[in-house]
Amino acid sequence: MTSDADTVIQTTGLTKRFGGVDAVNGIDFQVRHGDVYGFLGPNGSGKTTTIRLLLGLISPTRGGCSIFGEPVLPGAAALRCVGALVERPAFYPYLSAVDNLLLYAAARGIDRDRATRLVGPALERVGLTEAARRKLAGYSTGMRQRLGIGTALLDGPELIVLDEPTNGLDPGGVVEVRQLIASLAREGATIFLSSHVLTEVEQLCDRVAILVRGRIVSEGSTRDMLGEGERLFLRFETGDEAGRAATLLNQRDIAFERLDDAPALLVSAPASEGARVNRLLGEAGLYPGELSVRRPSLESVFLELTGDRAVEPTASAPDAPAAPATVT
Ligand SMILES: Nc1ncnc2c1ncn2[C@@H]1O[C@H](COP(=O)(O)OP(=O)(O)OP(=O)(O)O)[C@@H](O)[C@H]1O
Ligand SMILES: [Mg+2]
Repeated sequence: MTSDADTVIQTTGLTKRFGGVDAVNGIDFQVRHGDVYGFLGPNGSGKTTTIRLLLGLISPTRGGCSIFGEPVLPGAAALRCVGALVERPAFYPYLSAVDNLLLYAAARGIDRDRATRLVGPALERVGLTEAARRKLAGYSTGMRQRLGIGTALLDGPELIVLDEPTNGLDPGGVVEVRQLIASLAREGATIFLSSHVLTEVEQLCDRVAILVRGRIVSEGSTRDMLGEGERLFLRFETGDEAGRAATLLNQRDIAFERLDDAPALLVSAPASEGARVNRLLGEAGLYPGELSVRRPSLESVFLELTGDRAVEPTASAPDAPAAPATVT
């Protein structure tokens, strides 16, 4: 794996063994500038352990990682460019959000004047301006989580690392936090995000690694991973038209599946083939009332790769086909 000026995170054979368990087992991945990188895996697959390794909070048993080209060691200078939220952030319950952030800033070596300037915008960013002076003891789980993200964003880090940022939030909180991450991504932040919520990764991340028992079983662009199983859905007015379309596709050796409950076909072709298939049908006087692209959800890809292990149920994308996609 090559590394260049655009590489923000690089791991090489990164391994962490606890007792007899390889929590993280020889993983290699690269996060580049501007990536929103999803680290997806079921409970206990090693996501938090990897993040703790990336942040220099624990040392690897073997292999290593670098951030902005600098090997990660406790206190490495590059870690000052990283804002992180790891598991449940711990705050002082009898202090306000402002005072908690000022304490965090002091621990991070930010001088008081600068910290005072940074706190207001960070709290505004995560929607906590009105609650800024309230004691944390009265905060909801969602507010604490948003404060955790505000902490990660405090001094405009070049890399933002978020460990399951929507964990424990109610549906409204989940949407808010996702919107916040999406807006950071639009502004060009490099984000490394762990999650076991598939739809979250699907919606937010342009690259994804799937982790199972400490190993990466698949890695690549989210679009490619989902694009593998793309199909074209064609719906006709009548069964007769669908039958004629089926005959035509057979003649052209284009694979498809006929649906039982509608005059419709699912053609095994990617979105990029849509115009060609439509033209072919049009030339034979067949005009589908609907031509749409069906993509597999990341959930179906994930279930196939993880063998259905310890995955929390999540809603699939509405247009997901029933059959799991194959990722090679
Ligand atoms: N400090 C530790 N001591 C011993 N074992 C540990 C320690 N931290 C993690 N483990 C083990 O390592 C494995 C990976 O744990 P980790 O917390 O990294 O998983 P995770 O993917 O973050 O899971 P979750 O989705 O539940 O947060 C698990 O088997 C866990 O029990
Ligand atoms: Mg974890």
